[in-house]
Amino acid sequence: MAIALVTGASAGLGEEFAWQLATAGHDVVLVARSRDRLSEVAHLLEGATGRHAEILPADLTTEKGRTAVAARLQADERPVSLLVNNAGFGIGERFADSSWRHEKALLDIHVTAPLRLAHAAVPGMVERGHGAILNVASVAAHLGNTTYAAHKRWAVEFTQALAGQLGGTGVTATAVLPGLVRTRFHDSDALSHMRHDFPDAVWLDPEPVVRSALAAVRRGQTVVTPSPGYAVAGAVLRAVPKRLTRGRRSQQAD
Ligand SMILES: NC(=O)c1ccc[n+]([C@@H]2O[C@H](COP(=O)([O-])OP(=O)(O)OC[C@H]3O[C@@H](n4cnc5c(N)ncnc54)[C@H](OP(=O)(O)O)[C@@H]3O)[C@@H](O)[C@H]2O)c1
Repeated sequence: MAIALVTGASAGLGEEFAWQLATAGHDVVLVARSRDRLSEVAHLLEGATGRHAEILPADLTTEKGRTAVAARLQADERPVSLLVNNAGFGIGERFADSSWRHEKALLDIHVTAPLRLAHAAVPGMVERGHGAILNVASVAAHLGNTTYAAHKRWAVEFTQALAGQLGGTGVTATAVLPGLVRTRFHDSDALSHMRHDFPDAVWLDPEPVVRSALAAVRRGQTVVTPSPGYAVAGAVLRAVPKRLTRGRRSQQAD
């Protein structure tokens, strides 16, 4: 059975990806920093689904962590045929006030890691004539108002470029753009205000978001925005001048 590697599989959307993939018959490789939590997820998932779950603890903001996961993606034995680049976090700091350590970690988790891991995974997939890359972006990609949004915009552009280059190889690339999802993402002091800034009605559960993303992968669709409400919001945000979403001082004409 095909093997899927999911980053950020110890919580939130990544944990849900692992469950839905295992339930659908995939063996899984679970990546995140917390070994204990990964072991717990793997144990529960193997018991409930009968699929095999490997754990690969790694910090994807470090070269060492990315190299370890890249090595697993390049392995010929038990090859990975679906890579889900999901691990991520927000820092909730304006650029003028943020620490360089936080900005660098944000770039590494959302850009360096997916790029490095896709670069490790794609050649083997092309050689085998099948495989898929799924990059978890965000509707924030349409806002263009933070470095996080810029990284998520990169994820969409990168996925589209990859999908174009991979045409006819049997390998596909998909970007999923979730709206606000109830996960651990907004637990930090810097982001918890979002829980009451936005009404309950706009928050999604991980289950339908992941279901929609995996359906898009099966169809070979390049970009998907789960939930009709966010699909409409995404279309509107794409159409409005960026100066309206980027802030009052932005003078760009686009
Ligand atoms: N929740 C939302 O509203 C929302 C909306 C749009 C997009 N997204 C995107 O969805 C993705 C998943 O987020 P989530 O909402 O599921 O957040 P979450 O519940 O906080 O889960 C984040 C996952 O990433 C892992 N992770 C964090 N830092 C890591 C590191 N340095 N190295 C390896 N793994 C790391 C965490 O595990 P450890 O702490 O154990 O490492 C955890 O498994 C992110 O890319 C996020 O940008 C979320």
